[in-house]
Amino acid sequence: MPKKKHDQKFETLLIHAGEPPDASTGAVAPILVRSKTYSQKTFGKESRWQYSRGTNPTRSQLEEKLAILEGDGEATVFGSGVAAEASFFLTLNPGDHILACEEVYGGTYRLLDKLISRFGITFDFVNFQNKKEILKYIKNNTKYLFVETPTNPSLHIIDLKLVNEISKESGIPYVADMTFSPPITTRAFEYGAETVIHSLSKYIAGHNDVLGGAVITKNKKLHENLIFMQRTLGAILSPDECYRTLQEVKTLALRWEKVSKSALLVAEYLYKHPKIESVFYPGLKSHSNHKVAKDQMKNGFGGVISFITKNSKKNSLRKFVKSLQEHNIIYGESLASPETLLAYPPLMSHMALPKNVRLSMGIKDGFFRLSLGFEDVGDVLNGLKTSLKKL
Ligand SMILES: Cc1ncc(COP(=O)(O)O)c(C=O)c1O
Repeated sequence: MPKKKHDQKFETLLIHAGEPPDASTGAVAPILVRSKTYSQKTFGKESRWQYSRGTNPTRSQLEEKLAILEGDGEATVFGSGVAAEASFFLTLNPGDHILACEEVYGGTYRLLDKLISRFGITFDFVNFQNKKEILKYIKNNTKYLFVETPTNPSLHIIDLKLVNEISKESGIPYVADMTFSPPITTRAFEYGAETVIHSLSKYIAGHNDVLGGAVITKNKKLHENLIFMQRTLGAILSPDECYRTLQEVKTLALRWEKVSKSALLVAEYLYKHPKIESVFYPGLKSHSNHKVAKDQMKNGFGGVISFITKNSKKNSLRKFVKSLQEHNIIYGESLASPETLLAYPPLMSHMALPKNVRLSMGIKDGFFRLSLGFEDVGDVLNGLKTSLKKL
């Protein structure tokens, strides 16, 4: 796509970026190329397409599109968000150190703690709200600052301007997992990030039918390393998943607007409800980092709310969840889908943590995470109203 077209508005890029009608057929929907191998024209001359673990036309199209949507850099896509993260971390060398924000996604923590650490790469987790604290933990061998915003599951907001300031002062690049802030709301490159990671499985694809991940980077050497990782580690995204993501991302702006509106209404309702102890939603004025969120998140604050119920007795929680299920709220893992999803981190994403560690992170026994879908929000509110009576 010619460069000047990238100046168009984000909603236009969502539809057209990287996807001109097919030159030979005029097809408007992407061409799905499932071929594993390619006929090579000339002996001794390298072909553009050779073997789909290395490169695949549908995958390349998605990679081009994601980089345009992020506003810069070059993308590589992988078979899941954690596969993207693993491929990124494995570009580091033994002896390298990563300084990460305190509340990273549980799977990221497990990846670093149980796998990446085996390769001689070390890491620390610190509170990324305080510059002095962060600077204290930077070592000579720190290769990256690693942040996630809003954090999962407590929806803390990391101030990317602050991270950029620290990155500039220390000369250490930062990488941002923007799974909870897709580019319709925040483009981390505009805040100085060198590299952006996404689980495509959430907002980018957004229909509960794709598992995928992406790394988009401005660092050319890192990008070459990631291409090497695709070919060598092979944790690539299949052409079918690339095709679905290309199609599904087109509605990102519409979906983001819908779920952000619904989530704000639900958050306001829960905030006033006598059976609720606390509500975490960046769009609420009561959120500890609302000011930063307002500056950093455009077009709404997303569809995810976390809340803590006052009553956390197992029996009552069971009745609460059963009643919500009867109102079409799905009890399950993950977020960002047509279906409203209710997750319970103490028995899901954070089950592996010792109880005292989980509690120290504020994930109490009554902690739930709700991801608003595309249903009528009145129906969701009705479901909550009836179900909260069970507590
Ligand atoms: C912030 C964040 N990063 C990465 C991942 C991992 O993505 P995936 O499930 O696609 O492997 C998740 C999954 O929930 C996540 O929430």
